[in-house]
Amino acid sequence: MRLENKIAVVTGGAAGLGKAMALRFAEEGAMVIAADMKELDYAHDNVEGKILNVADPEACKTFFDEVVASHGQIDILVNNAGITRDAMTRKLSDEDWDMVLDVNLKGVFNLTRLVGPQMEQIGGGSIINISSVVGEFGNIGQANYSASKAGVIGLSKTWAKEFARKGVPVRVNAIAPGYIMTDILKTVPQDLLDKFASMTMLGRLGEPKEIADSALFLASDESSYITGHVLSVNGGMRL
Ligand SMILES: NC(=O)c1ccc[n+]([C@@H]2O[C@H](COP(=O)([O-])OP(=O)(O)OC[C@H]3O[C@@H](n4cnc5c(N)ncnc54)[C@H](O)[C@@H]3O)[C@@H](O)[C@H]2O)c1
Repeated sequence: MRLENKIAVVTGGAAGLGKAMALRFAEEGAMVIAADMKELDYAHDNVEGKILNVADPEACKTFFDEVVASHGQIDILVNNAGITRDAMTRKLSDEDWDMVLDVNLKGVFNLTRLVGPQMEQIGGGSIINISSVVGEFGNIGQANYSASKAGVIGLSKTWAKEFARKGVPVRVNAIAPGYIMTDILKTVPQDLLDKFASMTMLGRLGEPKEIADSALFLASDESSYITGHVLSVNGGMRL
């Protein structure tokens, strides 16, 4: 029970990696608020679903106030909600640029600017931002997505300094997953997925549980001296 008595918020918690993290944290004793645009399709005594669009700053403020009112505080925040709108740069529309940056980057800012200072007040916390192998190395056809995910790494390092400057242990880390089988990959052709698998040292794509276990480590006190770090969980892939 590594997260006993902890209150955790996981954005994008209805599906894919967010669902795996919400359930893994709940197994370890946390009360998890899974915030998503859609309803949960699963149930666990320790997981509460809440509708939230992380790209909407006012909705984030209302969400934050409601969670603090009903649960007292937030000890763990996983900024996981994310989308792709892929196109080669010369064909990338303003709309698809803005949408991906609004959700993947501004969405992270919208919640963390509320939760980070609250963690300073309560004496600590762990913030985990989900970046990507694409944010570390770039990728053809993903200018908007790679910019958003590289931005998330910059935010994580900045906040690791900013929220700990008064000597309070608010830790902020990023996870950069490689290719993990979830809905976000459903538009990627199988031959490309096979190629991505062959580009890893382990010769396969990842499982959502492998990201959830990494997030559990960063959320728990087992990582108490780790902050400002980017944990690459990608089977040894270099795009
Ligand atoms: N699966 C991968 O291979 C992979 C690799 C690297 C990084 N990531 C990142 O991991 C995160 C989770 O991805 P996934 O693979 O689970 O994708 P997914 O599409 O399976 O799940 C994403 C979830 O986020 C929710 N969501 C989307 N926009 C939202 C918004 N504006 N507000 C709140 N919720 C919103 C969706 O409803 C969905 O439930 C994303 O940030 C993604 O970029 C995924």
